[in-house]
Amino acid sequence: MALSPQWLDELKTRTTLSALIMRTTKLQRAGREWKACCPFHQEATPSFYVNDQKGFYHCFGCQAHGSAIDWMIEQRGLEFMDAVKELAAEAGMDMPAPDPRAAERAEKRASLHDVMAAAQEWFVQRLRSDEGVGAREYLERRGLSQHVIDKFGFGYAPDDKMAIKQALSRFDEAMLVEAGLLICVEDKLPYSRFRGRLMLPIQDSRKRVIAFGGRILEDRDGVAKYLNSPDTPLFDKGRTLYNIHRASEASRKTDRVIAVEGYMDVVALAQAGYEDAVAPMGTALTEQQVELLWRMADKPVLCFDGDAAGRRAAMRAAERTLPLLRPGHSLQIVQLPAGMDPDDLVKQSGPNAMEKLLAESKSLLDLIWEHERDALPLTSPEDKAGLKARLMDHVDAIEHPDIKSLYRRELLDRYSAFAFPKRDFQRGRATFGNPQPLRASPETVARLKRATAGSVRDAFTQSVLHGLLRHPGEVHRHADSLLSLADSDPRAAAPVEYLLEHAAMLEAGENPPISPEDVLPPAPDKSRFSFLMEGHDPGAAREDLAEAVSLLVERPALEAAIATATTRFDSDPEGAFAEQQRLRKRKLEIDERLGQMARKRAASAAEMDSSFDLATAAGCEQETD
Ligand code: UTP
Ligand code: MN
Repeated sequence: MALSPQWLDELKTRTTLSALIMRTTKLQRAGREWKACCPFHQEATPSFYVNDQKGFYHCFGCQAHGSAIDWMIEQRGLEFMDAVKELAAEAGMDMPAPDPRAAERAEKRASLHDVMAAAQEWFVQRLRSDEGVGAREYLERRGLSQHVIDKFGFGYAPDDKMAIKQALSRFDEAMLVEAGLLICVEDKLPYSRFRGRLMLPIQDSRKRVIAFGGRILEDRDGVAKYLNSPDTPLFDKGRTLYNIHRASEASRKTDRVIAVEGYMDVVALAQAGYEDAVAPMGTALTEQQVELLWRMADKPVLCFDGDAAGRRAAMRAAERTLPLLRPGHSLQIVQLPAGMDPDDLVKQSGPNAMEKLLAESKSLLDLIWEHERDALPLTSPEDKAGLKARLMDHVDAIEHPDIKSLYRRELLDRYSAFAFPKRDFQRGRATFGNPQPLRASPETVARLKRATAGSVRDAFTQSVLHGLLRHPGEVHRHADSLLSLADSDPRAAAPVEYLLEHAAMLEAGENPPISPEDVLPPAPDKSRFSFLMEGHDPGAAREDLAEAVSLLVERPALEAAIATATTRFDSDPEGAFAEQQRLRKRKLEIDERLGQMARKRAASAAEMDSSFDLATAAGCEQETD
């Protein structure tokens, strides 16, 4: 039956949620809302709220949240359609006329559910029967408790091609094929897919069995350990997680979800007291699975083997997640000791070992940084450029603009500090630019003056260069950005070179052979940026300076990219236009951010210059279209 959103909205509007909930849960008035001790978890003080205007309930303790329909499903245990029917009857609404094709599909799914439930029951019986003795011994050898065996619904598929067909003969053979329990090959009678295997039911978030994983009892080379159900109308392996229904429930309490690689890891973790673990079906994590994890916790913890294959799998998951990132949502990564899965770990070292690893989990950004940093040796400038390019490729994959620029900033910072360590300056080993110390001969000064005449193409660049002069300790961490600034704006090259060369001396309070006035453009208005002002909080000033440097570098890169997009107009007008729009939007964001930085400081400056020209301070140039 097709229920339109409008019809469902009408149903929700006609239902008074508080009245519905009040039938089973005592509610107290709380302003325009109602509150109660949460019916979904144990608590002493009320954190469960009901809002009739908005038509939903919400628990601040366990995050239970939903509409009247959800209430009927979650609290009364009804199926979706039954919940809707009951509410509609009370609201005096007729159910919409049924759509015969949809009804047929729903019926088919319903009967497939029956088939799967019957198969599950039968596998469990087989495990308990004489036939199941080998499988029972196997479970015992693996140290699984009876409690866990029952809870996870382990079963056994006998080594017989026809047994399940006979046992489930009350269903059409075609349905057993469709459910993936029988294999149908041309010219042959359909026969059992699972034979001589330990059976693990795979359940959906409403506890219904939708597929099976079957494990052989004796590992042998060349034989796949697990055989899984094929994709069926009930089972789409990329959209399911093993143990999702138990883990969702547990994660409400723990506010955490752990994703591991194997079924048996989930089971072993549950036995060790970690109920909030799930696993994909032997494939790399899909986007849909990441979304499912995010419904359970903001930062799902992904566990990987510490060996090379595990590290590759971790990076694959990271790459898949970058485009999906949104504020507050990320991943944490746990790397296990090489060659161990969580099952081995808790067995060998006990649950505390897992606890310790969870506490040491690293962020997605750490994972990417460490992976790329350690991927190749860093001996030549080309290696350094390669590392930087790989890091920026990851940044490019992020779609959310704020997260993207924060990643860019952090990764560039780490890159600069790593590729150009500070001690190189202090020992006087010139890593950058001119290896000869500049000598203060009159010719040199004259040359520099010529080189820097008109060097600063806008007030913003000028401000940043002076900011660095005031905070010479910051120069090294921006070395890389500054070099790329020098590349894109040759007139900034001499001041950049000067700063890089003399940062250590300036920081130590010594006088460089050439005074800054000879190289840097005249100082700009000091009240415009925090990093130029006297007596400003040095931490905040350094942060602003860091942001200013990265914006300074991004702008010319964007301008160049806009120009490139423009030249593509003839060959690919639509693509070029879209690209140009995107780049322009980013440029506007940057200019706006520059304006904000200047505005903030201008407002906090002692004397406010009312004629202050934001665009000039921020270096916003007129666009030439
Ligand atoms: P593992 O080999 O790590 O699984 O494969 P495991 O759960 O630790 O297995 P045990 O401890 O040897 O029993 C990870 C997952 O990959 C899928 C399964 O989902 C398994 O849990 N897999 C593995 C298959 O689908 N087929 C295979 O042949 C092997
Ligand atoms: Mn294992």
